[in-house]
Amino acid sequence: MAKRRDPLPTRWDRPAHTKAKHDILVKYLQAWYGIFGSSAYVDKVGVLDGFAGPGAYSKGEFGSPVLALEALIEHNHFARWDGTKFIFLFNEQDPERFDSLKQVVDEDLPHRWDPWPKNVKVHAHNENFTDLAEGLLGEIKPGHSLIPLFAFIDPFGYRDSSMDLIRRLLQYDKAELFIYFDFNSVNRFAGKGQAVDARFEELFGCNEFLKAPPRGPERGQFLHDLYEDQLKKVCSFAHVRSFAMVNKTGHIGNYLFFCTRNLDAFDRMKYAMWSLDPTGDYRFEDRLADQQVLFDHLDTHPLQDELAQHFAGQTVDIDVIRTYVIAETPYYSGHLKRDTLAVMQRDGRITSPNQRRRNQYPDGTLVTFPA
Ligand SMILES: C[S@@+](CC[C@H](N)C(=O)[O-])C[C@H]1O[C@@H](n2cnc3c(N)ncnc32)[C@H](O)[C@@H]1O
Repeated sequence: MAKRRDPLPTRWDRPAHTKAKHDILVKYLQAWYGIFGSSAYVDKVGVLDGFAGPGAYSKGEFGSPVLALEALIEHNHFARWDGTKFIFLFNEQDPERFDSLKQVVDEDLPHRWDPWPKNVKVHAHNENFTDLAEGLLGEIKPGHSLIPLFAFIDPFGYRDSSMDLIRRLLQYDKAELFIYFDFNSVNRFAGKGQAVDARFEELFGCNEFLKAPPRGPERGQFLHDLYEDQLKKVCSFAHVRSFAMVNKTGHIGNYLFFCTRNLDAFDRMKYAMWSLDPTGDYRFEDRLADQQVLFDHLDTHPLQDELAQHFAGQTVDIDVIRTYVIAETPYYSGHLKRDTLAVMQRDGRITSPNQRRRNQYPDGTLVTFPA
């Protein structure tokens, strides 16, 4: 029997940043289900929770597997998606946590959603994630690919989620990844000895982390950026966005990285992250968990300046601007029209040769940025 590496009990107390992680996950999945549920081209999708946990926390709060199901089955449009099969694969290595997960999945959930929707299938596995993933890869017939897959890889530490495995599992066009990056451990231990560095080499898929500055914010930034670059380069994800989880001492404990090849999916995840942190800093602080956001922090001046500079002297289609905002800036598409372009137009920073109504930027609108 595999020995538990972490000191926590079977079901542990849910920290504030875990709730924050769940909020992002649920908000994004609601959009993701909508995209595939209403697609005429896709009839089967998968959600893989590779480090699923026990299904519930110590006070009964639901874990990620239940939340992922709930986001689907309780979605307002779920009834319209009966032509799409949703396959959930929950994996937990620890035997006692797996028993707890099985109890939730086999006993609690069928009571909650009775009758159980025919197009939702749940499979629970009790394996090491690497073994599970290798097994899935082994089942793919030559010339075939995996169904569109959202993979949530949420270990406690930095083991069993190697860059190479992620590359092979998620090499298919419609595969997406939401992954925990154990920044605290990497920042503290990278370069500290052969045994641990061998693990980090698997995690990063290279040994460039050995070149990180020895200390200070530059070290953290280097390690964060290296992981992001590797997800882009090695795993061929076109769009990667991180979100920082700051612990009670005010230090970044971990990052969540979202990876996709689809611009609209990226936009939706950025929206989910902004919903949690309306300042646009892409971070959540345990210390501030109970404080309400009292006012809207949205400041689009940096975006206005960036657009003015990037497109200076050009007349461009609104869609080009939208793509740029999503792919190249921290903002998402919902910030573009009313909060940014309309303000720029009012201030005389843009004009349009074909706009029908002022402050409206429908498809096809051309926008002129002065030189
Ligand atoms: C952070 S917890 C998961 C929390 C869960 N995703 C949630 O959000 O509710 C990580 C889980 O991974 C399990 N685990 C650790 N190593 C594993 C491995 N190699 N393969 C599969 N599960 C593993 C742990 O027992 C633990 O339950």
